[in-house]
Amino acid sequence: MLNAAPYGSGILAKGPSAYPRYAYSEADADLVERAGQMEPACEYYGVPLAAAALQFSLRDPRITSTIIGMSKPERIPQALAAVPIPDALWPELDALAAPPREL
Ligand SMILES: NC(=O)c1ccc[n+]([C@@H]2O[C@H](COP(=O)([O-])OP(=O)(O)OC[C@H]3O[C@@H](n4cnc5c(N)ncnc54)[C@H](OP(=O)(O)O)[C@@H]3O)[C@@H](O)[C@H]2O)c1
Repeated sequence: MLNAAPYGSGILAKGPSAYPRYAYSEADADLVERAGQMEPACEYYGVPLAAAALQFSLRDPRITSTIIGMSKPERIPQALAAVPIPDALWPELDALAAPPREL
């Protein structure tokens, strides 16, 4: 399975305040709310929301490839930076993420 939108098209990279859109459309209120709770959870551990979003996809064994979109060259080192994610952050983000869909 490929994940070709690890930032949800941008909301999980720019943050829901700056970019309240998901999959190229206006995000629904629940999604904006949950993304808005992810931001302070990440900030508490000093982790950029984008880094957590990318590693959320990379750590899922069902996902064999993760494809990022970007329009600025400076995004490349940001994406490649191996930001350490404390183990304690994952349960908080898992609880805020949408329940997995049946495949
Ligand atoms: N998801 C799909 O359904 C689908 C279908 C066909 C093809 N694709 C392809 O898959 C790739 C990924 O899709 P996507 O671009 O929609 O999803 P995405 O990777 O979830 O989101 C990309 C967005 O995140 C922003 N971003 C990336 N790194 C950032 C950073 N460090 N800080 C702030 N913003 C950052 C980019 O903004 P900037 O522009 O400002 O860099 C871009 O608008 C694209 O090449 C797309 O064409 C996806």
